[in-house]
Amino acid sequence: MDCESCHYFRDDGSYAGFPTNEVCAECHAVDPEEAMEAIAEEGIDPSDYDAIMKAGIGAIEDNLASGDDDKLAAEREYVVKYLIQGKEVPWLNYQYQPDNVYFSHAAHKDMTVEDMAELKKELSDVVDPSVFEAEEFPEQNCNLCHLKDVHLNDVPPAFERNILSGYSKMTMKMWKCERCHALKGQPNACYTCHK
Ligand code: HEC
Ligand code: HEC
Ligand code: HEC
Ligand code: HEC
Ligand code: HEC
Repeated sequence: MDCESCHYFRDDGSYAGFPTNEVCAECHAVDPEEAMEAIAEEGIDPSDYDAIMKAGIGAIEDNLASGDDDKLAAEREYVVKYLIQGKEVPWLNYQYQPDNVYFSHAAHKDMTVEDMAELKKELSDVVDPSVFEAEEFPEQNCNLCHLKDVHLNDVPPAFERNILSGYSKMTMKMWKCERCHALKGQPNACYTCHK
């Protein structure tokens, strides 16, 4: 699946961030209203997820996309607990920055892994050097700042919170942003990143 089906830039250049149900529903085409009506007709409490999943509701089952049983179960769970309830999945943000930090994906969208490869040594504390060793440079630049190949994980990586700030410990530190900026001749005035 293309990364862009879930992670994309809006027309104004801002980044859409985590995908919402609206994005997922482009392919997971269960109609929430129809599903809720069918659940009511069966006399099931809409918040009794287990009962809904067991009942084999046609308005849900007929619209699942998965091929095998494990995937079907995972997809059904997403549809029943989130999509038809109108609830967003509470995704974990491994890179969440404090509110006083301004970060823009749009500002970094033209930066490629290939461009950075010549600075592999200088950036070795900032970017996992193995990112530059792939046979072909990936089109996406996400590995420069996020966990390497996080999209290939079936199980989410451990989410460790900093006890004081509540933020993920994987949040990029200021000196890392600054190191790459200095190497690429980018501004490092405080107001570049603090608004
Ligand atoms: C089906 C939708 C979907 C597709 C397709 C997808 N992603 Fe994601 N991605 C997500 C969701 C949902 C999360 C949040 C996961 C979580 O909270 O555990 C995420 C998280 C991420 C993150 C981590 C953000 C953070 O918090 O650090 C990165 C990086 C990422 N995806 C990159 C990619 C790349 C690269 C591709 C294509 C190869 C891709 N994704 C394709 C849905 C998708
Ligand atoms: C571009 C179409 C598309 C989009 C967008 C999409 N999906 Fe899917 N999804 C599929 C298809 C097709 C399958 C079945 C895959 C298979 O059988 O191998 C699937 C399977 C799944 C499964 C079960 C398989 C598994 O690997 O766990 C879950 C759960 C799921 N999707 C959730 C989501 C969520 C949540 C989103 C939004 C963040 C989303 N999907 C966005 C097409 C899509
Ligand atoms: C230059 C570093 C950098 C690159 C490159 C980068 N990210 Fe991020 N990403 C960040 C930072 C920093 C945050 C946290 C932003 C915040 O706190 O507002 C973030 C946050 C995210 C989030 C969470 C968004 C949200 O709504 O909070 C997702 C999803 C994500 N990035 C996906 C991607 C994907 C997909 C790519 C590759 C196409 C990518 N990122 C490339 C640094 C980067
Ligand atoms: C791997 C290198 C790299 C990392 C890491 C990185 N940046 Fe950047 N950043 C760049 C480059 C290169 C540009 C200029 C891109 C362009 O103009 O195409 C840039 C541009 C920016 C800009 C826009 C500057 C302007 O003049 O408008 C901001 C803001 C910014 N970065 C903030 C951050 C923050 C905050 C972090 C850390 C969370 C970060 N960057 C991490 C390379 C990096
Ligand atoms: C290239 C981006 C960037 C620039 C330039 C930058 N910062 Fe930061 N700053 C960050 C990020 C990202 C964080 C949050 C992560 C962290 O605490 O390291 C941060 C955090 C901080 C914090 C909070 C530290 C803490 O532990 O709570 C202070 C204070 C700060 N910056 C001051 C400054 C000052 C003063 C300047 C100018 C001399 C500056 N910053 C320039 C990105 C930047």
